[in-house]
Amino acid sequence: MLPTNRSRPQPRPGRSWSFSEMDFSDPKRKPRYLSKILMVALLTAMCVVMLTQPPCHRRSPSVFSIHEPGVTHVLVTGGAGYIGSHAALRLLKDSFRVTIVDNLSRGNIGAIKVLQSLFPEPGRLQFIYADLGDPKAVNRIFAENAFDAVMHFAAVAYVGESTLEPLRYYHNITGNTLVVLEAMAAHSVKTLIYSSTCATYGEPEKMPITEETPQFPINPYGKAKKMAEDIILDFSKSKKSDMAVMILRYFNVIGSDPKGRLGEAPRPELREHGRISGACFDAALGVIPGLKVKGTDYETADGTCIRDYIDVTDLVDAHVKALNKAERGKVGIYNVGTGKGRSVKEFVEACKKATGVDIKVDYYPRRPGDYAEVYSDPARINRELNWTAQHTDLQESLRVAWTWQKKHNSGYGPPQAMIL
Ligand SMILES: NC(=O)c1ccc[n+]([C@@H]2O[C@H](COP(=O)([O-])OP(=O)(O)OC[C@H]3O[C@@H](n4cnc5c(N)ncnc54)[C@H](O)[C@@H]3O)[C@@H](O)[C@H]2O)c1
Repeated sequence: MLPTNRSRPQPRPGRSWSFSEMDFSDPKRKPRYLSKILMVALLTAMCVVMLTQPPCHRRSPSVFSIHEPGVTHVLVTGGAGYIGSHAALRLLKDSFRVTIVDNLSRGNIGAIKVLQSLFPEPGRLQFIYADLGDPKAVNRIFAENAFDAVMHFAAVAYVGESTLEPLRYYHNITGNTLVVLEAMAAHSVKTLIYSSTCATYGEPEKMPITEETPQFPINPYGKAKKMAEDIILDFSKSKKSDMAVMILRYFNVIGSDPKGRLGEAPRPELREHGRISGACFDAALGVIPGLKVKGTDYETADGTCIRDYIDVTDLVDAHVKALNKAERGKVGIYNVGTGKGRSVKEFVEACKKATGVDIKVDYYPRRPGDYAEVYSDPARINRELNWTAQHTDLQESLRVAWTWQKKHNSGYGPPQAMIL
């Protein structure tokens, strides 16, 4: 038992130190009316703040602000983007309540419009235009909505761009994840599914990559994601957090909604940083003259790099399985890939067949920083989440994506034509 110091004056139980108590013992005390004036000033200031808030902050609570038994309300950050929009579609299809937060810096309001037209019923989907880099806005969103879980997709996500603008990447990925976590902590939202990447592993010596493979990222994108993971893991370890965390490390994502409702539509100015599937489609559409394959002398069967491609339908399935299995006080880290590497040459051949276009291909020397082979060991996610890639077939995934690309050769259209 701790010793008690009886000689020291103890505060009386049930009473806290207050202004009046201090006033009483302070010979140079201020007159009482001063504290009254202060109180009146404070109340007036509070009224002014409340009255100057935009009307939407004073409206009566919406269905999104109430925890409803049997309904899981998921905040999807970056839900106007490629993967986030596909995840939102799947969640809505599975009867989740969805709030999308996106600043549309890279995503498309057109994707939101598609989702809204598919799920127009009240209480299914809401879109909030906001920047996760604004802690006040994020805190207000959490204060006004009763979220049960967060799927945090929002990020800038191009390796090449990250080497040109590293600070933007640390700010957007690492800094914003901290903002989201702080809001989750402040508003007791306990489940987080985090979008991470195989880029956090860097250049592992041994293939396949397991979740135990040491993480030594080699570019700001991978480093920013690894730092975000570390922050999440440290927070989840603190007793107070009692979080359910699932970190999913995606490999190379391809494909689009098999019903052709959504697709991948990056901004044209991001083309130069783009991914191989985007480049193949651009070449097939004639937007660019052809494909530049960099490196044909790697130690692989055909000399080109090998990557693990995963269809977005399988990827979002992994998210839903992770959400359903998430448990308070536990962390799950999973590679999401097929476990099978495919070479760039194989990819290009599949793309030619999928598009029916004899894409022109030029071969160049290796690009610095590219590594020969990257593919996952998905054993853990197979075993623990009962997940396997069911929809990933290089040619078929590309065919589905191509069908959408052909119909939407300027993406979802210009943003100004899509105002909600
Ligand atoms: N596409 C891939 O192959 C791949 C691979 C591994 C990991 N990932 C991860 O998956 C996630 C989604 O990637 P994607 O390919 O769908 O990218 P995307 O660019 O299509 O979508 C990202 C979305 O986040 C939004 N966003 C960005 N910064 C924001 C901010 N500050 N506030 C609010 N919204 C913001 C963008 O407007 C966009 O809608 C990212 O975290 C990315 O790192 C993607």
